[in-house]
Amino acid sequence: MRLSGLLMLTLGFIAPLVSAHADEAAMALGKKVFLEISSPQCALCHTLADAGASGAVGPVLDELKPTADRVRTAVTKGIGPMPANTILTREQVEAVAIYVSTVAGAK
Ligand code: HEC
Repeated sequence: MRLSGLLMLTLGFIAPLVSAHADEAAMALGKKVFLEISSPQCALCHTLADAGASGAVGPVLDELKPTADRVRTAVTKGIGPMPANTILTREQVEAVAIYVSTVAGAK
Protein backbone atom coordinates (compact mmCIF):
# COMPACT_ATOMS: atom_id res chain seq x y z
CA MET A 1 0.00 0.00 0.00
CA ARG A 2 2.68 2.44 1.07
CA LEU A 3 4.99 1.28 -1.67
CA SER A 4 2.39 1.68 -4.41
CA GLY A 5 1.56 5.13 -3.08
CA LEU A 6 5.19 6.05 -3.33
CA LEU A 7 5.36 4.61 -6.82
CA MET A 8 2.35 6.65 -7.96
CA LEU A 9 3.88 9.75 -6.49
CA THR A 10 7.18 9.11 -8.25
CA LEU A 11 5.53 8.42 -11.59
CA GLY A 12 3.34 11.50 -11.26
CA PHE A 13 6.49 13.51 -10.75
CA ILE A 14 8.57 11.95 -13.51
CA ALA A 15 6.00 11.71 -16.33
CA PRO A 16 5.70 15.48 -16.93
CA LEU A 17 9.49 15.78 -16.89
CA VAL A 18 9.86 13.07 -19.49
CA SER A 19 7.21 14.55 -21.76
CA ALA A 20 8.68 18.05 -21.43
CA HIS A 21 11.99 16.59 -22.46
CA ALA A 22 10.39 14.83 -25.46
CA ASP A 23 8.76 18.11 -26.54
CA GLU A 24 12.07 19.89 -26.32
CA ALA A 25 13.74 17.23 -28.46
CA ALA A 26 10.92 17.40 -31.02
CA MET A 27 11.18 21.20 -31.16
CA ALA A 28 14.92 21.08 -31.77
CA LEU A 29 14.54 18.40 -34.44
CA GLY A 30 11.62 20.28 -36.00
CA LYS A 31 13.66 23.44 -36.42
CA LYS A 32 16.47 21.43 -37.97
CA VAL A 33 14.01 19.79 -40.37
CA PHE A 34 12.63 23.22 -41.32
CA LEU A 35 16.05 24.71 -41.99
CA GLU A 36 18.20 21.80 -43.09
CA ILE A 37 16.83 18.29 -43.40
CA SER A 38 13.78 18.90 -45.60
CA SER A 39 14.40 18.95 -49.32
CA PRO A 40 13.58 21.38 -50.75
CA GLN A 41 13.89 23.17 -47.44
CA CYS A 42 10.78 24.73 -45.93
CA ALA A 43 12.77 27.92 -45.25
CA LEU A 44 13.32 28.48 -48.98
CA CYS A 45 9.60 29.03 -49.48
CA HIS A 46 8.22 30.11 -46.12
CA THR A 47 8.69 32.95 -43.67
CA LEU A 48 8.91 31.82 -40.05
CA ALA A 49 10.48 34.26 -37.60
CA ASP A 50 11.58 31.67 -35.04
CA ALA A 51 13.65 29.90 -37.69
CA GLY A 52 14.97 33.16 -39.14
CA ALA A 53 13.37 32.12 -42.43
CA SER A 54 12.10 34.66 -44.94
CA GLY A 55 11.06 32.60 -47.97
CA ALA A 56 8.34 34.26 -50.02
CA VAL A 57 7.04 31.49 -52.30
CA GLY A 58 4.47 30.05 -49.89
CA PRO A 59 2.26 31.61 -47.22
CA VAL A 60 3.90 33.36 -44.24
CA LEU A 61 3.56 30.72 -41.55
CA ASP A 62 3.61 33.33 -38.77
CA GLU A 63 0.37 34.72 -40.22
CA LEU A 64 -1.20 31.40 -41.20
CA LYS A 65 -0.53 29.87 -37.76
CA PRO A 66 -1.29 26.33 -38.97
CA THR A 67 -2.22 23.53 -36.58
CA ALA A 68 0.15 20.55 -36.33
CA ASP A 69 -2.38 18.57 -38.39
CA ARG A 70 -2.33 21.09 -41.20
CA VAL A 71 1.48 21.10 -41.29
CA ARG A 72 1.58 17.29 -41.29
CA THR A 73 -0.86 17.07 -44.19
CA ALA A 74 0.89 19.75 -46.27
CA VAL A 75 4.29 18.12 -45.74
CA THR A 76 3.26 14.54 -46.42
CA LYS A 77 0.79 15.13 -49.27
CA GLY A 78 1.96 18.43 -50.72
CA ILE A 79 -0.49 21.23 -51.45
CA GLY A 80 -0.80 23.27 -54.64
CA PRO A 81 2.72 24.16 -55.80
CA MET A 82 4.25 22.84 -52.56
CA PRO A 83 5.80 19.44 -53.18
CA ALA A 84 5.22 16.53 -50.79
CA ASN A 85 8.41 15.94 -48.83
CA THR A 86 9.42 12.39 -49.61
CA ILE A 87 12.76 12.24 -47.79
CA LEU A 88 11.53 12.89 -44.25
CA THR A 89 10.96 10.10 -41.74
CA ARG A 90 7.70 9.97 -39.83
CA GLU A 91 9.51 11.26 -36.76
CA GLN A 92 10.88 14.23 -38.70
CA VAL A 93 7.44 15.09 -40.12
CA GLU A 94 5.97 14.88 -36.62
CA ALA A 95 8.75 17.11 -35.25
CA VAL A 96 8.34 19.79 -37.92
CA ALA A 97 4.55 19.74 -37.38
CA ILE A 98 4.99 20.28 -33.63
CA TYR A 99 7.66 22.91 -34.17
CA VAL A 100 5.84 25.01 -36.78
CA SER A 101 2.46 24.88 -35.02
CA THR A 102 4.13 25.92 -31.74
CA VAL A 103 6.30 28.81 -32.93
CA ALA A 104 4.22 30.27 -35.79
CA GLY A 105 3.18 33.78 -34.87
CA ALA A 106 5.00 33.58 -31.53
CA LYS A 107 7.60 36.21 -32.46
C1 HEC B 1 8.91 24.94 -53.11
C2 HEC B 1 8.34 25.81 -52.13
C3 HEC B 1 7.85 25.20 -50.83
C4 HEC B 1 8.53 24.39 -49.94
C5 HEC B 1 9.93 23.85 -50.07
C6 HEC B 1 7.64 24.17 -48.82
N1 HEC B 1 6.46 24.83 -49.02
FE1 HEC B 1 4.89 24.87 -47.75
N2 HEC B 1 3.78 25.83 -49.14
C7 HEC B 1 4.24 26.31 -50.35
C8 HEC B 1 3.14 26.93 -51.08
C9 HEC B 1 3.23 27.61 -52.43
C10 HEC B 1 1.99 26.79 -50.27
C11 HEC B 1 0.55 27.24 -50.58
C12 HEC B 1 -0.16 26.09 -51.25
C13 HEC B 1 -1.59 26.39 -51.59
O1 HEC B 1 -2.32 26.89 -50.71
O2 HEC B 1 -1.99 26.12 -52.72
C14 HEC B 1 2.44 26.09 -49.05
C15 HEC B 1 1.62 25.79 -47.98
C16 HEC B 1 2.07 25.34 -46.76
C17 HEC B 1 1.25 25.22 -45.56
C18 HEC B 1 -0.24 25.56 -45.45
C19 HEC B 1 -1.06 24.37 -45.80
C20 HEC B 1 -2.54 24.66 -45.74
O3 HEC B 1 -3.25 23.82 -45.21
O4 HEC B 1 -2.97 25.71 -46.25
C21 HEC B 1 2.06 24.75 -44.56
C22 HEC B 1 1.64 24.48 -43.12
C23 HEC B 1 3.37 24.56 -45.13
N3 HEC B 1 3.34 24.93 -46.46
C24 HEC B 1 4.47 24.09 -44.41
C25 HEC B 1 5.67 23.72 -45.02
C26 HEC B 1 6.73 22.99 -44.37
C27 HEC B 1 6.72 22.61 -42.90
C28 HEC B 1 7.70 22.77 -45.29
C29 HEC B 1 8.97 21.96 -45.16
C30 HEC B 1 8.84 20.58 -44.77
C31 HEC B 1 7.25 23.39 -46.53
N4 HEC B 1 6.02 23.95 -46.34
C32 HEC B 1 7.98 23.42 -47.71
C33 HEC B 1 5.53 26.23 -50.80
C34 HEC B 1 6.54 25.46 -50.23
